[in-house]
Order: sequence, then structure tokens, then C-alpha cells
Amino acid sequence: MTSLAEETGLVRSRQLFQSVDVLVSVTACCLRAWMGLTRLPLRIWRVARLRACCRGRIPVTTQCDGPVLVVSGADLRMGDHCRLGQGVFFETSGDGRIVLGRHVRVNQGVFVVSYSAIAIGDDTLIGEYVSIRDANHGTAPGALIRTQLHDATPITIGRDVWIGRGTAVLKGVTIGDGAIVAANSVVTRDVPAGTVVAGVPARVIRRRGESVG
Ligand SMILES: CC(C)(COP(=O)(O)OP(=O)(O)OC[C@H]1O[C@@H](n2cnc3c(N)ncnc32)[C@H](O)[C@@H]1OP(=O)(O)O)[C@@H](O)C(=O)NCCC(=O)NCCS
Repeated sequence: MTSLAEETGLVRSRQLFQSVDVLVSVTACCLRAWMGLTRLPLRIWRVARLRACCRGRIPVTTQCDGPVLVVSGADLRMGDHCRLGQGVFFETSGDGRIVLGRHVRVNQGVFVVSYSAIAIGDDTLIGEYVSIRDANHGTAPGALIRTQLHDATPITIGRDVWIGRGTAVLKGVTIGDGAIVAANSVVTRDVPAGTVVAGVPARVIRRRGESVG
């Protein structure tokens, strides 16, 4: 049996939650209206910011789902209708350049860093937190690694490629058209067109459309 005091307490806390619920709903309505009003200006701002930070070509059709990080002066050339997730990071150094085709989708937290050249073909999808870097630090013994020049070789990623989340694509690699790279792979060698690769280092597990085994 609950006492009168306990029941009064329960009723009061229920009333309090009901009032807070109304407040949350009103706030959500206001936020929704605000987000609707600011969607276009925010989109314009993000593309303009990207253009301001890069050399190269950033089309007006670029869609940024959140802030994109670019080391100032990066040589970034994008085809039409690319979509970039929140926290995507682009950097080029020296003669490095990054070229994206049309309709390329780069998901949240992807790092693309070029000291030589990185090309990504039309309609390719890059899963979240993928790293694409075309250079290694110099590693000659007898000197600090951080003080040595980079050793860079271009990376080419074909058209209609799908790279699973968390994958690392290392320098000098070519990934053929229509290939699929499984999540968390490390791509150290060329990937033939139309194959599915997985693992560390990434190896062919089958051709696209074939069953395993
Ligand atoms: C590559 C992928 C598409 C294959 O999917 P699938 O055709 O359903 O393949 P299966 O799950 O049947 O796996 C086939 C074999 O590959 C292996 N495999 C699949 N993904 C793997 C991975 N990431 N690493 C290592 N091996 C993997 C499986 O263990 C299996 O091996 P087995 O036959 O010895 O058991 C899928 O595993 C994958 O990695 N998807 C990426 C998802 C992602 O990152 N999305 C991001 C949004 S863009």
C-alpha cells in the first residue's frame, strides 16, 4: 500500500514530466523550422568555405553533410555531384593533387592525403574512416623518421568502386573499376577490376557476382 504522501509525489512528478515533454516538443518544432530556414545558406557556406581553402575545382553541386577539413591551399579537383560526409579531411603537399570524378561519395571521417597524386573515378563510394595516403615517411636508419622526406607514388581508384569502412589504401596502389574492398582491409597491392578483396593485406576472395568457395 502506498501512502498518501507517496501518491501525491508520484502525481507531481508525472505532471512535471508532462510539462517538460510539451517544452521539448515546442523546442523541437522551433529547431525544425530553424533548420529548414538555414539549410540552403549552410550548404552555400560549406561549399564556399571549401572553395576558399582549396586550389582546384569545387562545383556548386557539391554536397557537404557537415564541416569538411582542408589543409589550406590543397589541390583538390572535384567532379559534379560529389557528396562529402562530416569531418572528411583533404591535404596535399608539394606537387600532390587529389582528383575526384562525378558522383563520388566520401563518407564521414575519411582522410585523403596526397604528396603525389590520388585519383578517384566516377560513382565510387568510400566508406567511413577510410584512409587514402600516397606517401610513406622516409625511414633510412640513422636519422629521425619525422625529419626525412616522404616517399610518394600515385594511387588510382577506378569507377564504381566500393571501399568498406576503416580500410587503409597505401601508396602506389591501383584499384580497378567495379572492385569491392571489404571493411577494415589494408590494400597494399593492386586490386583487379570487378573483384572483391578482404583482409590484411587485402587479397581477392572472389569476383563480383560469384559466390564464395
Ligand atoms: C565485402 C563485403 C561487401 C562482402 O559481403 P558478402 O558478399 O555478404 O560476403 P560474406 O559476408 O558472405 O563473406 C564472404 C567471405 O569473406 C570474408 N569477409 C567478408 N568481409 C570481410 C572483411 N571485412 N575482412 C575479412 N574477411 C571478410 C568472410 O569472412 C567470408 O569468408 P568465409 O567464406 O571464409 O567465411 C562485406 O563483407 C563488407 O565488408 N562490407 C562493407 C560494409 C561497409 O563498410 N559499409 C560502409 C558504408 S559505404
